[in-house]
Amino acid sequence: MRYASLIRYGLVALMLTGLGACKEEQAPVPTLADAQRAESLLPTDVDLRARYQRSCAACHTSIDAKAPLTGAVAQWKPRLDKGMDLLARHAMEGFNAMPPKGLCMDCSESDMRALIVFMSQGKDEPK
Ligand code: HEC
Repeated sequence: MRYASLIRYGLVALMLTGLGACKEEQAPVPTLADAQRAESLLPTDVDLRARYQRSCAACHTSIDAKAPLTGAVAQWKPRLDKGMDLLARHAMEGFNAMPPKGLCMDCSESDMRALIVFMSQGKDEPK
């Protein structure tokens, strides 16, 4: 009996911890307006823009791809909280449905970092 209730409390505690963690990580659900804005945004730098248009944009402007949308700052917030180094590593090596290098085979790590800054802010500084 004692053990049974211990386990029950343990499970409840676990569930609460799980829910708490989930809430912290959760980004807002993307809207059609978010996707339309994502489609209208492009990096300033010509080379970066070309790389972005032939790789990242395919998924990061589409709600269906379930990728954080370009310029959707609130969606990027929990990702940026992980730190730029980890994000850059995930972009280089792949992360769940995000393919390695986002399928941009000629992208360097510094391109990745610049693309992440652009996508998470929806703008960048001209070089
Ligand atoms: C084939 C679709 C696809 C392409 C192309 C793509 N991504 Fe992604 N990306 C995703 C998906 C899906 C996620 C969300 C993965 C998850 O959180 O499970 C994601 C997530 C990310 C993340 C967040 C990773 C993290 O740790 O939270 C970064 C950074 C990123 N992509 C960068 C890029 C860059 C830069 C490019 C272009 C060079 C790119 N992606 C191209 C699908 C794509």
